[in-house]
Amino acid sequence: MKKQIKSVFNKKNKKKIICLTSYSYNFTKIIDGFVDVILVGDSMGMVLYGMDNTREITDEIMIRHASAVKKASKKSLVFFDLPYSKKFSEDNIIRRTIKIFNKTKCDGVKIEGNSELVDVIKYLTKKSIPVMAHVGLQPQKFSSASKFKIYGRKEDDLKNILNDCKALEKAGAISLLLEGMLTKIAKQITFSSKIPTIGIGASEFCDGQILVSEDMLGMFTEYHPKFVKKYANLSSNIQNAIKRFSSEVNSNKFPNRKFRYD
Ligand code: KIV
Repeated sequence: MKKQIKSVFNKKNKKKIICLTSYSYNFTKIIDGFVDVILVGDSMGMVLYGMDNTREITDEIMIRHASAVKKASKKSLVFFDLPYSKKFSEDNIIRRTIKIFNKTKCDGVKIEGNSELVDVIKYLTKKSIPVMAHVGLQPQKFSSASKFKIYGRKEDDLKNILNDCKALEKAGAISLLLEGMLTKIAKQITFSSKIPTIGIGASEFCDGQILVSEDMLGMFTEYHPKFVKKYANLSSNIQNAIKRFSSEVNSNKFPNRKFRYD
């Protein structure tokens, strides 16, 4: 059965909200129903395309991947990331979000930003487009993953982010994604918000958690943030399978009668 926005985002203080990323049809088929929300993240820039950052993901690339993910997902909710744009403009964000939302038929959008998004979120909420606001470490602000900085070490950081989160919640955001921040900040945001927080590198105090699937499955090894726990080592599994394939082809063990047309 398809999960409903309301029942997923009403889990705050009851059960954790489980989220992972996917960029493709086949991978979505594997994880569908095992998570509440599948995010078609612009992390695909680095993970799938080998880019230095998330900024080169265009709306067209996002539409392609989000459409494939949505097509494969029969149970989990699917959110897409609004791709980077050089200059902030409310009209531009609204127009692009509506276009991607309509084309992909996703269930919602995640947008990186702070209180400058208030009017955008009000507008999109009126149009029945659920918005997850992404605060804290915002990868689109960095030209390279090697420059990512944990949020919260400056004096005014706590006050600023609490104000931003309050404004984003009031504007209608259905959830706050908290990335790469000090534990005490994630804890305070979570305790002071009525909407759920989804954390990535933001401690166990959040109402839900998200990881990049390739990171937690041990398939993307170029970048190792402290917050990633590897639940599998698929890179080695794949390499072992390929070694066996190679050896069996070399020794004429594969293919054999069973795999041929006579
Ligand atoms: O792009 C992405 O995958 C994300 C997650 C890391 C939260 O924004």
